[in-house]
Amino acid sequence: MNNFKNLRGTVDLLPDHLIKWQNVEKIIIEQLFRSSIKEIRTPILEMTELFMRGIGEGTDVVSKEMYTFLDRGERSCTLRPEGTASVARALIQHGISTKPSQKLWYMGPMFRYERPQAGRQRQFHQLGVEFIGYESVSSDIEIITLAWDILEKLGIKELNLEINTLGDHIDRSNFQKAFLKWLEVNKNSLDFDSQRRIDKNPLRILDTKDVKTKQILKGAPRLFDFLSEKSLERYLIIKEKLKLLKIPFIENSNLVRGLDYYTHTAFEITSGALGSQATVCGGGRYDSLISQMGGAETPAIGFAIGLERLILLCGNELEETRETDVYIVNKGTHAEILAMELSRKLRNYDLIIELDLSGASFSKQFKKANKLKSKSIIVIGDDEAEKNVFVIRLFNNDNSENKEETILIEDNLKLEKWVKSNLILDRNL
Ligand code: HAM
Repeated sequence: MNNFKNLRGTVDLLPDHLIKWQNVEKIIIEQLFRSSIKEIRTPILEMTELFMRGIGEGTDVVSKEMYTFLDRGERSCTLRPEGTASVARALIQHGISTKPSQKLWYMGPMFRYERPQAGRQRQFHQLGVEFIGYESVSSDIEIITLAWDILEKLGIKELNLEINTLGDHIDRSNFQKAFLKWLEVNKNSLDFDSQRRIDKNPLRILDTKDVKTKQILKGAPRLFDFLSEKSLERYLIIKEKLKLLKIPFIENSNLVRGLDYYTHTAFEITSGALGSQATVCGGGRYDSLISQMGGAETPAIGFAIGLERLILLCGNELEETRETDVYIVNKGTHAEILAMELSRKLRNYDLIIELDLSGASFSKQFKKANKLKSKSIIVIGDDEAEKNVFVIRLFNNDNSENKEETILIEDNLKLEKWVKSNLILDRNL
């Protein structure tokens, strides 16, 4: 008996379920390629210090959710909880100039020790996009529309885009001073979680789900009132441009995001269809992160989409896969070798080939081909092997036989002609 199970909060993605993932990833990667965004892959394991400095020690992600351990060399390592800090590190470390600016994407597993529930896992996957070295308002708009278009391209409807501005560091620290004063007076009326946040990460109190605290917060100073004219103007232009591009949005002045590196634009895309874990995409501008980590002053903006949540939102049509084009039925020592040769040859075309490796009876192999709804069957038995030929049969949609042809093993031209005219009519060879 096998008593091993996967760890809580992790998921096995089994082959049938993965079809949807692969279809979704293909559409996304194509869209990124067409937008001139290049892939970057950084290690899953990083020095713990990177996330403490990059994301912020007061955040939930760093203080409560990281998978951190000492390796055999007594170094503190952490399984990445997100990708932005790693991308920033890689650019600084490799001296990759951000002139010209870099448009980058990554996709892969992230780890957060959270309470698992629908749409929330301990190992989950993100698609992240980072525009590094970009300062213009247009880059904010481009990032938001890119996220929006990816979701639309996947056929997801009823999405809500929420935006906010967090100002720059000066705006924020001015606000924080006033907010802390207010918190001192109102501390005892807040929920326990919010009270705990006062010392660690007071801004996150604005994001509370507690109904009573939300009500009390209505009387608190507002970050918006502490924005400099420049920050305010930036935000106004962003809103105008989104309107011009007909991207619907809601302003949410309580949207503060869970990571410390954000400045100015912050945004999230949610869907009611997801239940309590409604945020499918989160992002924003992080103009100080790279300089804080030891790099040059480099403005940047990005987002990440949670792939598990995305898959939940995508329709069943993305579960479809291509069917087998050729099933190779074979039996007998010589026939098996010829069948292998043939399958290697056929893999040069855009075809899905299933080579039967069972050595089972012909009737069993035919049954399997039938079950897979293969568009055609190639048969090689001892008789065919002796004559150095194979027989290829094409089927109609209702599985009735359409035509049959006998081809000499070496006759590559005839095979190609047959494949072209019967199986890849409209595909490029
Ligand atoms: P985040 O908001 O922490 O941002 O995560 C982005 C998305 O990852 C969330 O909206 C959600 O869809 C998904 N996600 C987060 N935690 C979990 C979980 N435990 N289970 C399933 N899905 C989850 C970031 O990570 C930033 N690095 C985004 C960014 C990039 N900002 C600028 N550039």
